[in-house]
Amino acid sequence: MISIKSDREIEIMKQAGYINYLTHEELKKHLKPGITTNELNNIADKFIRSHGGKPSCLGYEGYPKSICISVNDEVVHGIPGNYKIQNGDVVSFDFCTEYNGYQSDSANTYIVGDAPDDVKDLVKYTEEALYVGLSKIKAGAKIGDIGHAIETFAHEHGLSVVEELVGHGLGTDIHEDPDVPNYGKAGTGITLKKGMVIAVEPMLNLGSKEIGILDDGWTIVTEDGYPSAHFEHTVVVTDDGYEILTGDKEKNGEK
Ligand code: MF3
Ligand code: CO
Repeated sequence: MISIKSDREIEIMKQAGYINYLTHEELKKHLKPGITTNELNNIADKFIRSHGGKPSCLGYEGYPKSICISVNDEVVHGIPGNYKIQNGDVVSFDFCTEYNGYQSDSANTYIVGDAPDDVKDLVKYTEEALYVGLSKIKAGAKIGDIGHAIETFAHEHGLSVVEELVGHGLGTDIHEDPDVPNYGKAGTGITLKKGMVIAVEPMLNLGSKEIGILDDGWTIVTEDGYPSAHFEHTVVVTDDGYEILTGDKEKNGEK
């Protein structure tokens, strides 16, 4: 079932999303060679709680940490640990923050120091792909419009689209209906309605789209070992567009 959120619920989700945004900003400041992914996890955990939120990945289906950190060939759901960040790493932070019982979900990918041009392009075009997908959102549009736009854009830039993991609705749960694939046919799928809240999250690979999972049962990696990038925002559908709930409040506003 796809729920339509009331204005009151959307206000709470904006708070959840703002804590998420601020946490990403905080993490960005600490992302330097030498810091461990565990240390980054702990910084985020403390920051979220001190801002009145809950790091809701922790314990979700048994997930053992407060945030996901995926490095280089890790696509998503990397588990923080003793790994020390190195110059040239492609690092994505992805996590959910809960406020007053409501969820938000957002991801960003960064290059630490310098990297080859094709890796820089991977990160740049994956972020652009998120906005290309979001630009299709408005009441009356179809879910397939989003995926079709992302997939077309990715292929135009020589990148492949991970298909096994998709965006999703969210509200009191992290994952609600509908699925929001990063591929598909325009004009197909469910119709978006005002007040639906969805997370759009392209995961694009420099090499092939094939993925595998590590023995930890969580970490998704590219099969060929080439790097992957991931960007995600939680948005609410409006009559003529969307509003980002996990962005900078000052810069947001209706699109
Ligand atoms: N953005 C991720 C997702 O939608 C957040 C996962 S939280 C985790 O899958 F606990 F599953 F890791
Ligand atoms: Co998500």
